[in-house]
This record gives sequence, structure tokens and C-alpha cells, in this order.
Amino acid sequence: LNENENNVFSCISKITRERRAVALGQRGAYRESTVWLTGLSGAGKSTIAFALEEYIVSKGLPAYCLDGDNIRCGLNKNLGFSDADRVENIRRIAEVAKLFADAGLMYIVAFISPFEEDRECARRLHENSQIPFIEVFVSTPLSVCEARDVKGLYKKARTGLIEGFTGIGAPYESPSNPDLIIDTSVMPVDRSVETIIGKLAELNILS
Ligand code: PPS
Repeated sequence: LNENENNVFSCISKITRERRAVALGQRGAYRESTVWLTGLSGAGKSTIAFALEEYIVSKGLPAYCLDGDNIRCGLNKNLGFSDADRVENIRRIAEVAKLFADAGLMYIVAFISPFEEDRECARRLHENSQIPFIEVFVSTPLSVCEARDVKGLYKKARTGLIEGFTGIGAPYESPSNPDLIIDTSVMPVDRSVETIIGKLAELNILS
């Protein structure tokens, strides 16, 4: 048992990741991991994330995709878009990602995650548990995201209907050292997925 300063005791499972993988009937060269996509609203994060999930699952391997809009309807529905709420949003997602990856999944996360420090915390959390963390910067420029305006949110932000919209009234800190950079204004979804798969193969996460 490990005790912390609040008299909370954490227990450690006797099951290793390798034993759990065998029980889950895992096939092929594959490692639990978190693929973390970050970028502006409308950059293409969710589209790539769900396409990657589909590819991995089609190979008979476990993957699970989580995106901002979905989690904000459930686990994080008490959070808004202030800086503090975004920090808490990403802290929770990082913890959830680590748990799911620890349980044997490839966890694919698609959140704006605008602050470098929070993404670095997520990376450290994974690396402290020896879980690979692959940061993918979906770098599609603001002008392209705004021209797409799939959800009509940029228009609302420009007309003052949404305050603090990322890229307009709220900051986005580009990753300084991402594992991959994908700009969907010049790369279609299938090529973007291939690029991520290539990276995962290079890191011996997937073969
Ligand atoms: S964050 O910054 O990481 O906490 O944001 P995230 O959880 O990824 O949620 C982003 C989605 O919420 C919608 N939305 C906003 N985004 C940015 N700024 C503001 N103010 C805002 N209000 C609502 C928007 O649909 C985002 O979805 P994506 O998929 O990124 O377009």
C-alpha cells in the first residue's frame, strides 16, 4: 500500500500488462499507448482520430477514441472553456488515457489541449508508467479552420456570440517538440492516418 498526505492508500495490481494482454487474446506486435492529437477547432483532429481507431480495430487490435465534444457531454460536463477549466479538462483526460492504455488499449485522444504545460504533464504521466505517448500536432492553419467552420463556431466567435474561442479570443500554444506534425490543409485523412501508423511502426508500437 502507498499512503499519501490525505490518508489515501493506493493499491498495486498483481496483474502485469503482459498477463492482461494474453488474457485479452492480443495478437500481433502491438503495445498499449496513447496517441494524443492537439490542434485548433476544425483542424481535423476528430476525423483523423476516428479513422485511426477504425484502422486499428479493423486489424483485430483494441483501440478507443475519445474526443472533446463527447467527453464534455459526460465525464467533463461540469467544465467550460475558462483557462482553469481547460486545464482540469486535460488533466482528467490524461488520467483517463493512462488508465485505458494501462488496461491494454491504444487510446486515441482528440482535444484542442491548448496549453503546452498540460500536454507535457500528460506525457510525463504516461512515461512515468512506461506507456508510450505520441503527441500529434494537427497544425492546420487558423485561416483554413475558420474557412471550413464546420460547426459555425468561428462565425459565432467573430460576431462575439462566443467569448474566448481558441485561436480568436483564447490562446493556442503550438507544441514545441511534437512526435508528428500533420497539416490537413495539404494532407488528406487517409495519408494522415498512414503517417501516424508509420510512426507507430517506427516506435515498435504496431507492426
Ligand atoms: S480544450 O481546450 O482542450 O479544453 O477543448 P476541448 O475539450 O477539446 O473542446 C473543444 C470543442 O468544444 C467546442 N467549443 C470550443 N472550442 C474552443 N473554444 C471555445 N470557447 C469553445 N466552445 C465550444 C468545439 O466544438 C470544440 O470542438 P473541436 O472538435 O475542437 O472543433
